[in-house]
Amino acid sequence: MEAMPTRQDFDEAAAAIRQATILQPKIAIVLGSGLSALADAVQEATAIDFWAIPHFPISTIPGHQGRLVLGHLEGQPVAVMQGRTHYYEGYSIHQVTLPIRVLRLLGVETLILTNAAGGLNKSFRSGDLMLIVDHINMVGMGGVNPLRGPNDPELGPRFLDMSKAYDRGLRQMALQIAQTEGIPMHRGVYVGLAGPTFESPAEIRFLRQMGGDAVGMSTTSETVVARHGGMRVLGISGISNVAIDDPDSVSEASHEEVLEAGALLTPRMATVIRGVISQL
Ligand code: HPA
Repeated sequence: MEAMPTRQDFDEAAAAIRQATILQPKIAIVLGSGLSALADAVQEATAIDFWAIPHFPISTIPGHQGRLVLGHLEGQPVAVMQGRTHYYEGYSIHQVTLPIRVLRLLGVETLILTNAAGGLNKSFRSGDLMLIVDHINMVGMGGVNPLRGPNDPELGPRFLDMSKAYDRGLRQMALQIAQTEGIPMHRGVYVGLAGPTFESPAEIRFLRQMGGDAVGMSTTSETVVARHGGMRVLGISGISNVAIDDPDSVSEASHEEVLEAGALLTPRMATVIRGVISQL
């Protein structure tokens, strides 16, 4: 039986965070692989290591610092997850998404999810941003859904509508800011896989045919839980590599490449996120 944290676990984690700061975040940002620098811009910051928060899953991979940073960004009270955990690290999908439940209990209404992703769409280049318009949750479709198990109606509905998962108003804001700032931002469908293997060329061609524009190993389950809790979600992928669709290609996918692209992606992502937050 997979580990299923309870409402009491969510409450205990939220209580520990409330003890560390009186700040009441309305907006939360999850920073993906190689994108953690934005947390350094948070002012009057209180940083709490994930290990110091009861029940929080702990990041085990390079590029994910594993801290919750609470403070102000653009004058707004925010909580920034500097790093996240993934299903492939061995946690249950309920553990992976526990921080989203906890952020909701802290009062967060708007969730900004970022990730590093491989570009499936042939027009995407490394360093581009992709605004997530919709997703294909392959992990969830395969049965690994964070809403599996008994439903607590106090947290959200048993059967969740996913037709408007990524908030239209937030999307429009993000696109407009990217346009004004001259930042290349596509719109597209994010495919969420379990990882940790990168995709085979045949899988890449399959995901592209299926309607995916970018592929990664996070985000979709977090979106499900955020929507279950009634949060507005903005999702932005940083295209860190172009997916390899040919078995005879000389290139290979690597985590180093993903982290290196972060240098270009981080300032772009930061500009868009700051712009959106300043308008909320
Ligand atoms: N595939 C899956 N996940 C990823 C990739 C990729 O190419 N790049 C960054 N995360």
